Amino acid sequence: SNPSLLILAGDGIGPEVMTEVKRVIDWFGAKRDLAFDVEEDLVGGAAYDKHGTPLHDDTMAKALQVDAVLLGAVGGPKYDALDFSVKPERGLLRLRKEMDLFSNLRPAQCFDALADFSSLKKDIVAGLDIMIVRELTSGVYFGEPRGIFEEGNERVGINTQRYTESEIDRVARSAFELARRRGNKVCSMEKANVMESGILWREVVQKVHDTDYPDVELTHMYADNGAMQLVRAPKQFDVIVTDNLFGDILSDCAAMLTGSLGMLPSASLGAPNADGRPKALYEPVHGSAPDIAGQGKANPIACILSFAMALRYSFDQGDEAARLEAAVEKVLADGVRTADLLGEEGVTPVSTTGMGDAILA
Ligand code: NAI
Ligand code: MG
Repeated sequence: SNPSLLILAGDGIGPEVMTEVKRVIDWFGAKRDLAFDVEEDLVGGAAYDKHGTPLHDDTMAKALQVDAVLLGAVGGPKYDALDFSVKPERGLLRLRKEMDLFSNLRPAQCFDALADFSSLKKDIVAGLDIMIVRELTSGVYFGEPRGIFEEGNERVGINTQRYTESEIDRVARSAFELARRRGNKVCSMEKANVMESGILWREVVQKVHDTDYPDVELTHMYADNGAMQLVRAPKQFDVIVTDNLFGDILSDCAAMLTGSLGMLPSASLGAPNADGRPKALYEPVHGSAPDIAGQGKANPIACILSFAMALRYSFDQGDEAARLEAAVEKVLADGVRTADLLGEEGVTPVSTTGMGDAILA
């Protein structure tokens, strides 16, 4: 039977960019004999409108069954006043939590044609291709105790950085596995100089390396230095593995080395199942972009490249992923631009569909 995909287009520009991804999926079925069983469902505000919850239990159950989930974006001003428990983002958080997606892959890749877009000098970013692996389900965003408490005559806000050995072990493994398919280099970032969780992080990553991945080059770096190095000389890195908080910040920083939010894909992976496929959710980094929703202006590339990541990491179709990425690269080199990529004068932007057309062609 065909590999299965659950598409959750969500809100705002989510459905618009996903329409282009569906055309790409159909193309692979028709032209490359690579067909998927695709199911679609609601998430975020769209699910709230229909079911009063941002993720219906049936949708959650489907997500746990399929080979991969592809998500557009959730949220929008219409839902800003909703109670925290039913906010669109909660749908996404529930997916990540129940699928136990502990490894968040954020590539920062610089397409030559867009090198002028970087906040950095062209020669620092041209040809850049790094991958940040962020631990996604633990650390300071989840550790207990947490809260705002009374202490004497004032309040104190508390969050707790907490990592178990097994949590560090599994995300380290996913980084080493990834490195073997890329440049075979991992740099692990923490603050072992001032944090016990950082000391344990460094120890466990080193042990996983020495035991099972001695062939991969491993270095350690303090995360603050890592931030500097990312901006100074990002091409020194291949795979960076780091915790939830540092990964949040470092991956946003790395993203801006390469230009527009409309270009950035991501993958969130869990534990491999019996056939070796990890639980997986693929989504663009950007949100629902209410300011341009419904105008046909959204750049579908981030979502299309997220599907390319699905081809590579869920379906072992690295060659087909590269084919799709090469099509994106070609279109950019040809000067095709959605409005968010406009820098040069005299270029007329294409619509979301226009960009999809160019990539398919
Ligand atoms: P956003 O990513 O939606 O938009 C930020 C800016 O980038 C906007 O000016 C937007 O027009 C532009 N942009 C984003 N994606 C684009 C694309 N594909 N093509 C062209 N331009 C693009 O972030 P913002 O404005 O902070 O949040 C808007 C809504 O999205 C909020 O409700 C927020 O909660 C939600 N959100 C959802 C995320 C998700 O579903 N994973 C992630 C981030 C925000
Ligand atoms: Mg962030």
